[in-house]
Amino acid sequence: MKRNKMVAGNWKMHFGPSKAAEFAEELRINILDTHGVSVILCPPFLALKTVFDVVNGSELKVGAQNMHWEESGAFTGEITAAMIQETGTEYVILGHSERRHVFAESDEWINKKVQRSLKSGLIPILCVGEKIEEREAGETEQVIARQLRDGLKGISASEMETVILAYEPVWAIGTGLTATPEQAIAVHEFIRGALKTLYSEAVAESTWILYGGSVKPDNTQGLLSNKDIDGALVGGASMKLDSFKGIIDAAGAIE
Ligand code: PGA
Repeated sequence: MKRNKMVAGNWKMHFGPSKAAEFAEELRINILDTHGVSVILCPPFLALKTVFDVVNGSELKVGAQNMHWEESGAFTGEITAAMIQETGTEYVILGHSERRHVFAESDEWINKKVQRSLKSGLIPILCVGEKIEEREAGETEQVIARQLRDGLKGISASEMETVILAYEPVWAIGTGLTATPEQAIAVHEFIRGALKTLYSEAVAESTWILYGGSVKPDNTQGLLSNKDIDGALVGGASMKLDSFKGIIDAAGAIE
């Protein structure tokens, strides 16, 4: 399906409130026209409110990088969907590979988070992706199929209208190694096929699927010009004006 592209910047554990506000201001001033590309800034929790206040009224939207699935409770160090929403934030990245592999988040937890985000009205960006040893063992599709099936358990076809997916091969994240367009397209097609099996042709066609893993201005066009790749989830290159703007411009120039 032909649709506008989306570019989300994941700032990870960089930029406290002051630096984040400063950078968001720089982006707001320099990215006045996104050429129809939806742009989402995902700062650390502490900077959500300040970033929202800076970009409110502009083309730029805000997303969180994680959340807990409960509405409240004794969960030291955690944060709820409602707290995130109170800052004006509309999106939340869930199941990022660093959450899965550094913090041992299971598909079950990630699924509870997806369910909660939808109940609360936050738009989830659910990440899936294989590790290098899984790719080398020929298990990529098996891993992605499991992450989708378990991560989307209990999510209805109508709720899928609000779910965004991101395919992020773990071996391409922060490594400078990007999946070739052919490798990315093959997995994006596989994901659409899996969505067709889990839901319907309509859901498979209409779901946004982003690619993530060392996206830069010079590889954006090659990756995003395919109809099955609806945008990019960007880490490193989202934290500098030139590279982030370069990615947005490249995405916006795709016919
Ligand atoms: P990267 O990170 O662009 O630095 O590879 C992507 C991500 O972690 O979402």
